[in-house]
Amino acid sequence: PMSSYVALLLGYLLGSIPFGLIITRFAGTQDIRNIGSGNIGATNVLRTGRKGLAAATLICDALKGTFAVLLAAWLIDAPAALPAALGAFLGHIFPVWLGFKGGKGVATFLGVTLALVWQAGIVFIASWLAVAFISRYSSLSALVASLLSAVAAFLLAPPPVGLLLSILAVLLWFMHRQNIARLLAGTEGQIGGKG
Ligand code: G3P
Repeated sequence: PMSSYVALLLGYLLGSIPFGLIITRFAGTQDIRNIGSGNIGATNVLRTGRKGLAAATLICDALKGTFAVLLAAWLIDAPAALPAALGAFLGHIFPVWLGFKGGKGVATFLGVTLALVWQAGIVFIASWLAVAFISRYSSLSALVASLLSAVAAFLLAPPPVGLLLSILAVLLWFMHRQNIARLLAGTEGQIGGKG
């Protein structure tokens, strides 16, 4: 229905705000797209050495997803939460403002998950921290966390929510294809390293 497209667009507009780029530009660092992996996400912002900016990027990129879902459910109706979540995730990854070259979707995945089924969001946070603590790989942590939280959503929420988060997880994995290749080759940068 029409309201689904409105929710998708609302989510997209919020999701496409490139906070990593805005925050680092505001702080006057070098263009984040010329540092480390070139990604606009919190992991790469951390490679500027500015932990506060990385934390702000993580929080804003997550909250825009949370906000999109809650706003759509409130303004439109409860089912509108799903297209809003999809829109926010796609907006972050493919922002029209940056020639569709956005981020890899980790923080925004977490943000929409927390809004849709918060317990799966907790699974994401716990598994991300556990894998990061052991491996020091941000990408590997996100790959594992997205998979486990999608599984958790299937167990804890109505089937459409599990299905949506699975689709987002597949997209997240696809966006990490170069990270996966580097992980397999043993050349992936670690948290706190130069990347
Ligand atoms: O999963 C974290 C992801 O954002 C990796 O970022 O900059 O290492 O490609 P990056």
